[in-house]
Amino acid sequence: STFDFAANLFPLSSTTSAGYAPIGAPTTAGHVNGGLGGLGGGSLEKHKTLTYLNGLSLIVGLIIGSGIFSSPSQVNANVGSPGASIIIWVIAGILAWTGAASYAELGGAIPLNGGSQVYLSKIFGELAGFLFTWVAVLVLKPGSAAIIAIIMGEYLVRAAIGAEAETINPWINKSVALVGLFLVTFLNCVSTRLGTRMNDMLMFLKFVALLGVTVTGVVVAATGYSFSGTANLDWKNHEWFEGTKLDASAWAVALYAGLWAFDGWDNTNYVVGEFRNPSRDLPRVIHTAMPLVIVSYILANVAYFLVLPLITINSSNTVAVMFGAKVFGPIGSLVLALIVSASCFGALNSSTFTSSRLVYVAGKEGYIPAFFGRIGTGTEQSDSSTLNTTRTRSWFAKKVARLVGDEDTGLFFTPIPALALNASITAAYIMVGEFGTLLTFYGVAGYTFYFVTVLGLIVLRVREPTLERPYKTWITTPIIFCCVSLFLLSRAVFAQPLQTLIVIGFVIAGVPVYYWRIRGRNQTVKREALGDSRRQRWKFWRRI
Ligand code: ARG
Repeated sequence: STFDFAANLFPLSSTTSAGYAPIGAPTTAGHVNGGLGGLGGGSLEKHKTLTYLNGLSLIVGLIIGSGIFSSPSQVNANVGSPGASIIIWVIAGILAWTGAASYAELGGAIPLNGGSQVYLSKIFGELAGFLFTWVAVLVLKPGSAAIIAIIMGEYLVRAAIGAEAETINPWINKSVALVGLFLVTFLNCVSTRLGTRMNDMLMFLKFVALLGVTVTGVVVAATGYSFSGTANLDWKNHEWFEGTKLDASAWAVALYAGLWAFDGWDNTNYVVGEFRNPSRDLPRVIHTAMPLVIVSYILANVAYFLVLPLITINSSNTVAVMFGAKVFGPIGSLVLALIVSASCFGALNSSTFTSSRLVYVAGKEGYIPAFFGRIGTGTEQSDSSTLNTTRTRSWFAKKVARLVGDEDTGLFFTPIPALALNASITAAYIMVGEFGTLLTFYGVAGYTFYFVTVLGLIVLRVREPTLERPYKTWITTPIIFCCVSLFLLSRAVFAQPLQTLIVIGFVIAGVPVYYWRIRGRNQTVKREALGDSRRQRWKFWRRI
C-alpha cells in the first residue's frame, strides 16, 4: 500500500486518536518545539506512526524527481565522455550516501523533527539553525522548486510540440513552469490531502519510468533493435572515455548536476521524531534507499548512453524524451514526456508542501513576520479552539472536502500566506534562472549546510563522546563527506563565482536579521526555555 507521507509528515494533515492536531502547535513559551525549531511541532512527536516501509517510500519518492531525466546532459557536457559521466554518478551517489549515513547518526543522537535546523541549533547555537532556515526559505526551497518547475515546463512543451522540434524560446518553457507552480500552490492552498493522494500515485509512475528506461536500453543494446526502425547503436562507435575533460571545475559542476538527482536524502531526518523506532529504522531506511537509488540511476544512465548519440545527450535538458523518441518514435517521446512531467509535478508538489511548512514554522518562531505563520485565509489561530468550527460552507465544498479527506477542518485550512510567499520567491527564480545555473546555485547553497551539519557530527563526537548514539557510523563516513563537499564548494568559487557570491551574501545577510528578530524578542523567555548554563551564569552576574 502506498504511504500518505504528508499525513505523517506534519500535524496539519494527521488525524490522531486525540482528534485533529493543529500544525506547529505551540509547546513551550509560545515557541514551536520550545524555540529549537523543528517542522513538526511538539504535539506530533508524541504520535509515533512511521515504520520502516513508510520511511523508505518517503525518501525514495522524494529523491527520484526530475534529476535522473535531465541531469545526465549537464554531467556529460561537463566531463566529456560516457565513462567519466558514470564515474560522476557513482561519486555523487556515494557522496549522498555518506551524507545520509551521517545524518542517520545525528538523527539517532538528536531524535527530533526538523533535520539540519535542529542539529545546527544544538551543536553550533541557534544562530546556525536560524541561518539554515533563512537560507532554506529564501534560496534552497524556492530554488529547488524552480528547477523542478522548469524541467516540468520543458517536458510538457516537448510533449506538446514533439521531440525533434528546433530550439524553443525559453519563455515558453518558463510560462508553462509558472502555470504549473501556481496550480500546485493553489492545490496546496485548497487542501493538503489532495496533493498527497496524487503523489502516492505518481510515485509508482516514477519507478515504472526508470525501470522502463533501463529495460528498454538493455534490450535495444542486446538486440540492436529499436522500434522506430533506426537501430543506431552509437556507443559502438566511440570509446567510453574518449573526450574526457580534465578540468576540476568542470567536474565539480558535473558533480553538482549528479548530486541534484540524488538530493532529498536528508528528508527522513525532518520527521525522525515520528518514527516508531528511529534508532533501528532510520539507518535501515537509509542503507536500503541509497543503494537502491544509486543502482537504478547508474542503470538508467547506461541505458541513455547505449541508445542516444552523445550530441543529443549533451544538447538537451530532456534526455528521457530523446530516449523515447529514438526507441519508440513519436509515441515514445510523448509517453515519456508525459510521465516525466507528471513525476516533476509530483516532486514540485512535495517540495511546495515541505517549503510551506518551513516558512510557516519560521513565521511561528518569529524568524519572519508572524503573518506567514497563519493558517487559513485570515484570522484563525492554529490552537485547538478552532478545530471544532466547521469552515466548509457550500454543498460543493463539503463534497470536495469529504472526497479528499479534509472533512474535519474543511478546505483552505492550510498555511496560505506561507504558500504564497514560497510561490512568489519560486516564480522569481523561474523567471531569472536557467536550469544549469540554478543547479549549481542550489548545490552551493545546499552543500554549504550539509557540510556544516556533517562537520557538526564530528564536533559532537569530540565534544560529547558519551552522548548516546543508537547508530554510530564509521568515522570515515563523515570525513569523506566533508572532504568531498569541501572540494566541491571550493571549486564552485572558480566555476560559478557569481552564484557563490550571491549564496554567501544571503547567508551573511541572515546574521543581522537574526539579531534583529530574535535577540530583541522575549529574551528572558528564550533563556529559560533553552536552559543554557552560560546564559544562566550571565543572568547571575547581571543580578549582582
Ligand atoms: N532529487 C530530486 C530531483 O531529482 C530533487 C530533490 C529536491 N530537493 C528536495 N529536498 N526536495 O528532482
